[in-house]
Amino acid sequence: MRSVFALCVLAAMAASAPLGTLGCGATRHEMSDAAQLDEALLIPCAPNAVLVQVCQQCHSSPMRNGAPFPLVTYSNTQLVIDGEPLYVHMGRALDSDKMPLPPVEISSDDKTVLLEWLTSGAPARADGESCASASR
Ligand code: HEC
Repeated sequence: MRSVFALCVLAAMAASAPLGTLGCGATRHEMSDAAQLDEALLIPCAPNAVLVQVCQQCHSSPMRNGAPFPLVTYSNTQLVIDGEPLYVHMGRALDSDKMPLPPVEISSDDKTVLLEWLTSGAPARADGESCASASR
């Protein structure tokens, strides 16, 4: 399988922009668009809780354990890599059990919640939805 990471590096080199905290391949201009997007749009509570608890053990900002990009903000999940938004790559990696990498595990309930969001096109949080402070 082709490496998304290698494509990110190539995209960043082509744009002669450093890898930004908002994701690989983002140019300065795209990054300010992304910052604006993140002010307006958030990941819905249920899938966000799974991202925080599972994926962000590596795909954090800054990244840990060799993860090639952060999965923290809404715009992180929408970044187009190799012609497809990152949420499509995420759905494939999750569905095929490629992710999360060990030793991190995901429960089947959490996997279902995250996959449902990813396969429904990763919509932003609905107006007025606020996450309970008890949510993970
Ligand atoms: C233990 C650390 C770790 C965890 C937890 C983790 N990842 Fe990753 N992820 C990586 C590393 C390292 C890579 C780059 C190497 C690779 O592709 O195997 C990667 C690559 C990816 C890629 C790009 C490669 C591909 O196959 O498309 C996606 C998408 C991805 N991760 C999504 C996720 C999602 C979604 C979760 C949570 C369900 C997650 N990851 C959890 C470490 C992790």
